[in-house]
Amino acid sequence: MTRYQTTSSSQRLTIKHLREVTSILTVAGSDVVKGLSQAKKTLPPRYFYSDRGSELFEQICELPEYYVTRTETAILQGCAAEIAEITGKCELVELGSGSSTKTRILLDAYSQLGLPLRYLPVDVSAGMLESSAKQLLNDYSMLEIYALAGTYELALQQLPPKQLPTRMIGFIGSTLGNLNPEECKIFFSQVTQALQVGEYFLLGVDLQKPKHILEAAYNDSQGVTSEFNLNMLEHLNRLYNGNFDGSQFEHLAFYNEIDNQIEMHLRSLKSQTVELQTLNLRVDFALGETIMTEISRKFDIETIKQQLKSHNLVMQQVWTDANNWFGLFLCQLQ
Ligand code: AVI
Repeated sequence: MTRYQTTSSSQRLTIKHLREVTSILTVAGSDVVKGLSQAKKTLPPRYFYSDRGSELFEQICELPEYYVTRTETAILQGCAAEIAEITGKCELVELGSGSSTKTRILLDAYSQLGLPLRYLPVDVSAGMLESSAKQLLNDYSMLEIYALAGTYELALQQLPPKQLPTRMIGFIGSTLGNLNPEECKIFFSQVTQALQVGEYFLLGVDLQKPKHILEAAYNDSQGVTSEFNLNMLEHLNRLYNGNFDGSQFEHLAFYNEIDNQIEMHLRSLKSQTVELQTLNLRVDFALGETIMTEISRKFDIETIKQQLKSHNLVMQQVWTDANNWFGLFLCQLQ
């Protein structure tokens, strides 16, 4: 645990590193071994988020084709005051906080109502977590931050005691779409276990829309998404002493209309063998063979409502944009 005590703003910042626990999993790298040993190779999307990967993701959010962030931001701007009025004094836990840019909209809404501010960002990138926390503390003089560096699964199990009357867990940015249906169920259970009855869950998800809009968003003209995808190989090289050559793979992203999901892959440009020494793993790739690195599911409002309801998360309010491209759901644990 890092408690900063040198300046007045840093007295308001605590960073808890969940690394000790994560490192047991990381050294094992069992998810990498499992994913690369299957007939259809996969890698977990969490390996995108090295510090460089998190920076690239921030760039993706600014891309003209990537409507997701812009659309959700506009929705939040329109409803943040209403959210603050519904919850009253409330501390905000944000899973996958990144640069915390959208969070500022909520923090502004709470401070405009004169409500106290306590923010608990959770992110696997400790670098990103620390730099964005420090910026927030500079900008919000009454804000207290308790940051958790690690996966959201671990963070949900290790949240500190509440200091305000209620708590809201925010999972915005449609990261839910990166979980398969089974992982989604487990995730909702973890959220409900971390919440007490009457506490809130704020969920932002990307909605179904025409294929050409979706495919453009994941095949941007500047090649940032391609770099983001390929960066996963660099990250794995560093973590597991590997020899992936990024120039021998290419980015591939398409919309699977049966499962309503974008699929991102890395396609091998030649027949090759890659080694990850720490994992004692050698992987053969045929020319054209792919590794699926991410699914990004696109939802419909009714299905999400039903899933939340089946986890005792009762809908308080749903907000969307004029095109119905993105949905923001506020629910309360019953
Ligand atoms: C983090 N997540 C919601 C993004 C998405 O759209 O699924 C990740 C991403 N992958 C490529 N572009 C953005």
